[in-house]
Amino acid sequence: MPAVAVLGAQWGDEGKGKLVHLLARDADYCVRFNGGTNAGHRVVTSRVPTVVGVGANGGETEAQEFKFHLIPAGALHEGCAAVLAHGMVIDPYALVAELEALKELRGSEPEIYISSNAHLLLPYHPIVERLEGSQSALDTTAKGIGPAYRDKAARIGLRMSDLLFPQRFTEKLAAVLERYQRIWPDHPELQRLRAQELAHEILRLAEGFRDRIVDTVRLLNDALDQNKYIIFEGAQATLLDLDLGTYPYVTSSTPTIGGIGSGAGVPPQKISRVIGVAKAYTTRVGLGPFPTEALGSAGDRLRAAGQEFGTTTGRPRRCGWLDLVALRYAAMVNGFTELALTKLDVLTGFDEIPVATSYRYHGRVLHDFPTVCEILQECEPVYEKLPGWHEPLSDCREFSELPRAAQQYVRLIEDELGIPITMISVGPSDEQNLWR
Ligand code: IMP
Repeated sequence: MPAVAVLGAQWGDEGKGKLVHLLARDADYCVRFNGGTNAGHRVVTSRVPTVVGVGANGGETEAQEFKFHLIPAGALHEGCAAVLAHGMVIDPYALVAELEALKELRGSEPEIYISSNAHLLLPYHPIVERLEGSQSALDTTAKGIGPAYRDKAARIGLRMSDLLFPQRFTEKLAAVLERYQRIWPDHPELQRLRAQELAHEILRLAEGFRDRIVDTVRLLNDALDQNKYIIFEGAQATLLDLDLGTYPYVTSSTPTIGGIGSGAGVPPQKISRVIGVAKAYTTRVGLGPFPTEALGSAGDRLRAAGQEFGTTTGRPRRCGWLDLVALRYAAMVNGFTELALTKLDVLTGFDEIPVATSYRYHGRVLHDFPTVCEILQECEPVYEKLPGWHEPLSDCREFSELPRAAQQYVRLIEDELGIPITMISVGPSDEQNLWR
């Protein structure tokens, strides 16, 4: 049985949730290994997968949408257990709310395992993020992700396992909170937090999931030994990777292939398929260099057609053309064995479609993606212009049904990356795909 990684190839929001949901029909486990509530994986089910929403008469129900932030998107399927591995930072309030919502939608309790070593994202983290100014300097999701990972790196973070020892948990939380309160003695929101009350509240919340806190490293490695089918669902994406992305305009975790080793404890050589997910164009939320950004009417048109507004924050996404320089880089650092191309339907209606195949930097042509922001910021894309198409794609289910120009577009990407495109998505519903 395969272990499959589904990883974002651009700056996030590529449609990983939909792909994971589709693949997870047959999976035993679906695993999140990085990030926290900064992720927003939206799944639209047009048909009832297994248990979700089956009406009393057993008939099909209408399309339903679920937004995952912490729980992996495979959890809509009854046979697929959800694992929140130790590479994550988990907000216990958000976890309880999401578990409740998911239970309601499924009509049954999801099978869920939470790593004892996963860090807790606590109410002071978003406040600290705001006070430090990184929220405005980087345009983060404001969820407190950076401060939570920093506490982890500074070895003062609280972990899921701490919830199993209430007295120690309360003492540790008091020590960290006091540290922050000493730094900002006049900040009312921070000063209002009381360690005892907060600890009590969180320990009460944890009653809803305490028995799900386990050693997920052992769980997953045993599952692999038993030939189970596991999907690793990356949150965020390659160009937001703390080390491999466009630093400092990145998130604080490792959304690339190495994050599975460090964040789930599964050796990367056990992963037989590495699926990169890329939109047929490019988007980015937040600040940072974006060479193929289309300002003006083309960008507005992509945003409107692609409904490019953040799942987590509702922010309008910056939109632009496909960047093959960046995609080649993502394929290289992750070792993609294949690519899933999403939202191809959004490109319908353009007479021609520019695709960046290299950059120009101070008169030089660059074929390799520079991750040094100061260089990337000054790169100009060198575009190849491909013919567009005007036919809607949302009813296509076979590659041969795509207009010739759309086929040419797909083939150019395959040729440039040297990997096959095995899935093309042509609409938000879980049925609007072509598999190759
Ligand atoms: P943080 O992860 O909230 O610290 O945000 C850091 C950067 O990553 C910001 O530019 C965010 O907009 C971006 N980011 C974080 N999570 C996502 C995501 O799930 N999709 C797209 N961008 C994201």
